[in-house]
Amino acid sequence: ARGAEVLVASNRGPVSYEVREDGSLHTKRGGGGLVSGLSAIGPDAGALWVCSALSDGDREAVRRGVGEEGVRMLPVPADVHADAYNGIANSVLWFVHHLLYQTPLEPVFDAGFRRQWAAYETYNRAFAEALAEEAADGAAVLVQDYHLCLVPGMLRELRPDLRIGHFSHTPWAPPDYFALLPEDIREQLLRGMLGADRLGFLTRRWADAFTACCEQSVGGLAGTEVGVHGLGADADFLRERSHRPDVEERIVALREEIGEGRKAIVRVDRTELSKNIVRGLLAYRQLLDDHPQWRERVVHVAFAYPSRQDLAVYRDYMAEVQRVTDEINAGYGTPGWTPVLLNLKDDFARSLAAYRLADVALVNPIRDGMNLVAKEVPVVSDEGCALVLSREAGAYWELREDAITVNPYDVLETARALHEALSMAPGERAERTKRLSAAATALPPARWFLDQLNALRATQPG
Ligand code: G6P
Repeated sequence: ARGAEVLVASNRGPVSYEVREDGSLHTKRGGGGLVSGLSAIGPDAGALWVCSALSDGDREAVRRGVGEEGVRMLPVPADVHADAYNGIANSVLWFVHHLLYQTPLEPVFDAGFRRQWAAYETYNRAFAEALAEEAADGAAVLVQDYHLCLVPGMLRELRPDLRIGHFSHTPWAPPDYFALLPEDIREQLLRGMLGADRLGFLTRRWADAFTACCEQSVGGLAGTEVGVHGLGADADFLRERSHRPDVEERIVALREEIGEGRKAIVRVDRTELSKNIVRGLLAYRQLLDDHPQWRERVVHVAFAYPSRQDLAVYRDYMAEVQRVTDEINAGYGTPGWTPVLLNLKDDFARSLAAYRLADVALVNPIRDGMNLVAKEVPVVSDEGCALVLSREAGAYWELREDAITVNPYDVLETARALHEALSMAPGERAERTKRLSAAATALPPARWFLDQLNALRATQPG
């Protein structure tokens, strides 16, 4: 048979391109939880990864016919992509599943929203058509995330012979919150996903929420199987990558910036509303108030990488992170001590350096599908790291026994947790880190992917 036997579809692909000043194309590897999870599949597996051309460079690469083996980029028109990605995926679906709406003012489902929704349909249809074209008879297709909820249903109509799976890398909204969406949109989303033979979620909690939404809106799961696969950290990759010379160099530099003998509270996130970076800063300030003995003896190293900057709320959030940081540094800093080191520039090697030397990792999202930082730090930590972890992160269910867990909204509790983490005896810290690392690597990306593929292939043709 012609065509690919295994196909993956996601908005963000494994590579992106940048047009250099001399007109040449520069290739960059993608990041994020989804991409790390899927990097397990290679072109050698005969798999095809269908993704969108996101940047101008990507669109130029498609125009020039440049591409990687095993990757097909869809050149969706920029305005359609903007409405589908910024409008529906990141401003509506992401907000619903992470409970981010400030409901007195948002959301507003008006004519503009309907235009964006039409773009979301167009965008999903482009994926369904490309997949239908590329798939071999009876092939397995694994569709990823909230950008592509309608693809399974659309693809099912075009190619009834395929095994279709969908995986959500985000939480799923509880039914009462999901009901913020207009009824027809809710039904379309759920029916679109139920076009799959099998749906995957990162935790039982998100899978149950999805099932409850289906029971409320469309009378149940309609024969679609729902499974849970908790993506783990990629230990081999992380251990090797975090000991390369560029990371060693950055450890030396970072140590010097922190100051000899001081402890480091590290966080690494996209500057993302759901990551709760501002309350993390407030908790740190509270720690300095409640336990002045830590002043000059600790530094909060906060990585807040730019993300989704087309959206005004994200730009505002980034400014707020900067403002609160400046306020703490101005209010508490001394000539030899900067209390918060804020890193806004994406530098993977520097975040790995911070992982290795962290005394405390702060992972306090409002809500998070899994959170891989919580799983990566224990794996690469040099001398053990205490983990302060939100009970609203998917990773909580796997790591709670050896983490210090917090309500992400409770700044006082988070401050107490930071104090407890900083005070933990080195022996206990090392022991806990070992157990955290074992739990964090229980389902490495390659197995996470293969488990899903096998489970999908084992479903009964509907
Ligand atoms: C989350 C989503 C991914 C997404 C990533 C980065 O992890 O589940 O699908 O790729 O965030 O967000 P971005 O909008 O930059 O792709």
